[in-house]
Amino acid sequence: MADDYQMPKGELMRGKRGIVTGVANHQSIAWGIASQLAAQGAEMAFLHLPGMERRVAPLAESIGVKLLSPVDVTDDASMDAAFAAVKAAFGTIDFFVHAIAFANKDELKGSFVDNTTREGFLRALNISAFSFVDCARRAAEMMPEAGGSIITLTYMGSERAIPNYNTMGVAKAALEAAARYAARDLGPKGIRVNALSPGAMRTLSLAGIQGGRGMLAKGRSLSAMKEDTSMEGVAGAALWLLSDLGRSTTGELVHVDAGFHIMGFSDDAEGEG
Ligand SMILES: NC(=O)c1ccc[n+]([C@@H]2O[C@H](COP(=O)([O-])OP(=O)(O)OC[C@H]3O[C@@H](n4cnc5c(N)ncnc54)[C@H](O)[C@@H]3O)[C@@H](O)[C@H]2O)c1
Repeated sequence: MADDYQMPKGELMRGKRGIVTGVANHQSIAWGIASQLAAQGAEMAFLHLPGMERRVAPLAESIGVKLLSPVDVTDDASMDAAFAAVKAAFGTIDFFVHAIAFANKDELKGSFVDNTTREGFLRALNISAFSFVDCARRAAEMMPEAGGSIITLTYMGSERAIPNYNTMGVAKAALEAAARYAARDLGPKGIRVNALSPGAMRTLSLAGIQGGRGMLAKGRSLSAMKEDTSMEGVAGAALWLLSDLGRSTTGELVHVDAGFHIMGFSDDAEGEG
């Protein structure tokens, strides 16, 4: 987030409670989203990877997060305990933010065909896609009759083949399909499910991808707006989808990437031939 940027304050999330996953540090996309939700009056619980308390606690405290609980999404007992803790504190929830992904570093470089292993592939799909299904089911069970809103975070490496993104691109394709199926299942209960697809952003996750800096630079130069994806833009889109502003939108894949996904040829191809 730009240091001088203040997330717009208001009441759009007043009276709403929810869970935010995936805050690891102040650069995390989940942190930008949580800051915006707090500025609009949301009450939140953070579910973070075990061992991250020291980093996450001061951030959570600074925006009045009510509950911090560790969760490892690969472990059923850990999931049971984390969701039970939120249920005990909040009773019901109105929104859920899934911002979790992982693939072994060795799978995020070079040749997709040569470097993808069974173990690495399944691990990436488990943490980055199945976790969403599991979270959506547990979150939906805690939502009131009035319904609720769930979002997940994806990347355009699901739709196009991006260098080094490899296994994670396949996991994101599964995640996006899972979000559509969840939207279909949960729609009759008034629960909306959407996926946000930001352009590359400077976070811990990006650092795990070989050539991550290149993804940032390419994303910028190939985008329609010729600029980086901003945390404020991603947080604003999340606010739209999680608040009642988004009430008729579900099953959608929303790109927040300064127009990276609409571009065909890059500008330097113009005038050739
Ligand atoms: N940074 C980007 O360029 C970018 C672009 C588009 C989408 N995304 C997506 O946004 C989401 C958030 O990533 P980020 O970029 O903010 O990076 P991040 O590293 O800050 O967030 C990833 C989070 O996943 C959590 N996590 C990993 N394994 C877990 C497990 N087993 N159990 C529970 N939590 C686990 C980590 O603790 C971390 O908080 C991810 O889904 C990522 O793929 C990132």
